[in-house]
Order: sequence, then structure tokens, then C-alpha cells
Amino acid sequence: MSNRIQIFDTTLRDGEQVPGCQLNREEKVEVALELEKLGVDIIEAGFPISSPGDFASVKAIAESVTGPTVCALTRAKKEDIDAAVEALKPARRPRIHTGIGASDVHIKHKFNSTREEIIERGVWAVKYAKSFVEDVEFFAEDAGRADLPFLAKLTSEVIKAGATVVNLPDTTGYLLPNQMHDRISYLFEHVDNIHLATISMHNHNDLGLATANTIAGIQAGARQVEVTINGIGERAGNTSLEEVAMILNVHKDLGFSTGINPKYLYPTSCLVSNLMGMPVQANKAVVGANAFAHSSGIHQDGFLKHAQNYEIMNPEDVGVPSSAILLTSRSGRAALRHRLNLLGFEFEKPELDKIYTRFLLMADARKMIHDEDLKELVG
Ligand code: KIV
Ligand code: ZN
Repeated sequence: MSNRIQIFDTTLRDGEQVPGCQLNREEKVEVALELEKLGVDIIEAGFPISSPGDFASVKAIAESVTGPTVCALTRAKKEDIDAAVEALKPARRPRIHTGIGASDVHIKHKFNSTREEIIERGVWAVKYAKSFVEDVEFFAEDAGRADLPFLAKLTSEVIKAGATVVNLPDTTGYLLPNQMHDRISYLFEHVDNIHLATISMHNHNDLGLATANTIAGIQAGARQVEVTINGIGERAGNTSLEEVAMILNVHKDLGFSTGINPKYLYPTSCLVSNLMGMPVQANKAVVGANAFAHSSGIHQDGFLKHAQNYEIMNPEDVGVPSSAILLTSRSGRAALRHRLNLLGFEFEKPELDKIYTRFLLMADARKMIHDEDLKELVG
């Protein structure tokens, strides 16, 4: 099995479902072109049946993107698949992503159906989509809570029907990483034709475990991950692209690779955040404002002696201009001296001690000390 992980970006579909994050067609094309530059393998461009605007956006993305596969979401319904086929017509590499609920709770309370009928409907949808495009991905919604022998049977049947990718979403973000690992391993052991398809992870973040579960899935054999920029998505969001990309990059020992060029991670994060009006939390891994900022005295001193004391990635490698030394009343003399030096001031120890005492008073009062405050401090 190859160790190259396919990056399937769903910022423009699952991410864009977030209330207030809707983008117009031009903005979606702009994001899609940025994702292409970033190196994603598949762009899920939207859900064409959902609205005329989404249909037009999928079509515009299919016209604009040349490298990545362009994918459209459908339910297991003829009219959905027909709309996706139409919207994807201009795509060089089209993919239809169709599927249906797989857990008993979805089967009973969403579809009022039976396991047998769900398999029939899933198989029908894959075959119907396959009559238009070669690349058909099947999603078994809420696979995280589905009965495992049933999930194995469903997976086997949709692969027989022609699915090239089987997506096993933890739709409700329910699983623990070891459970995810066990479930994917079970499927590799019990689905005899599983090697004919790529197994995909699509994990939601309701318990903050989306990234951990995605890595666990990869370790058990999944070779595609469905992710979004900044982890945006329904409720608590989806697995974040930048986290998975950098985990696989930092932990080269795991032996997996992606096509992502990390230096575009931060610019893409900023573009998506700005266009969607969705701020990135300051402590967000990899792309948050504080991801490379050092503020306590102990950390600042260690960082200034040797960056790797407190950084496992270079900010420049992910497109962040530089690390930052923030000055607060928790900062020490080393950080104060460093920031003063950057402003062109040099002080010997006794004088620096006096300035530091005044600095602490100022920092207690103002919380964050900026360059203008430092200039005021040293007169
Ligand atoms: O979370 C989910 O199960 C989904 C599917 C539609 C793929 O988004
Ligand atoms: Zn989802």
C-alpha cells in the first residue's frame, strides 16, 4: 500500500456550511485556486443540488482548476447525481461523492429504512454515478457509530459496485483515536475487496479529537483525509488541513507524505479567514496568531538561546513571517533586552535592571508592551 496520503479539501463544501461563512462564486474560485497552489489532491467544490449558486460555483471551479480532482457532493438520489454530473462537466478530473447514512440511528430516525435497503440504495447510487464518471466516492455517513459487521458488508458492496474511494466519516465526532484505529483495522481484516478502493477519513471535531482520529485512521490504513482550512465545518468543525499536513511533515518517522507545500499554509489560512469573516483562534495549532509567539520569561530565554528549545517547526516553513517575542509582565530580562536591541538600544546590566523594574510596572498596567511603550520607557 502506498504511503502517499491524498489530501481531500472540503473547505468549500463542509467548511462553507458554517452559518455566516458563505462565499460567492468569485470568492470560491479564488479559494480553489489557492488550494491548488497549496497542493491539495481533491477539492470538494460544493453540493450542486443545494442551490443554483452552489451549482454555478462547482461549475466555475471545474472550469478554473487544472491540477486537482474536482468533487461534488450528492445524496443517494438521481436528481442530486444528475446535478453533480452537469456541474462537473468542465472538470478535467471529476469525482462524484455520493452516499447515505450507515449507523442504526440514521437508518431508523433519518431514513426510516432498514440495513438491507440502505445497502441497495448505496449500491444503486454508486452504479448510477459510475455510469457518468470513473471516479466515484461513497460516504457511509455516521460510520463512526455504525455496526461494524454491517459497515464491512456495506463497504464491500459499494466497492463491488465500482466505488473508487470509501469515506467512513465520524460525522458526530464521537470516536476515540484507539477506537478509530480498531474500526479501520477491523475493516481491513474483514472486507476482502478493500484493497480495490482508497479508504478515507472524514472526522468532525465535537470532542476535539478530529485530527487525532484522522491520524489514527491513517495508521490503520486510510490513505485519503478529508480536511478543511482552519478546521472550519459543521458544529465544532472538521479535521484541520494544516494540522494533519504538519503532523505528517514533522513526524517523518511515521513514513507518510502529502503533496502539500507547507509554505502556503498560513497565506491560505488568512485568505479563508478573511473571505469568510471567520477569525482563527489565537492558539490554533500551526496558523494561530500565538502559534509562534513566546511570552513567558522562561520560554523567551530558552527560545532566544536556541529556537528549537521551544519550537518544533520553523514559522517560515508554514508561511508565517517570523516568531514573535511578546512582552508582558510575565516576560524576563532576556526578552526585554532582545526587543530593546531590535529598536537599537543597548544597555549594560545595572541599567537594564532598573529599566526592567519600570517595565514590570508598566506591563502590569498596560498588559501588552509594544515598541512605542518601550521607547517611552527608555525616554
Ligand atoms: O460529516 C459527514 O458525514 C459528511 C458527509 C456528507 C460526507 O459531511
Ligand atoms: Zn462532514
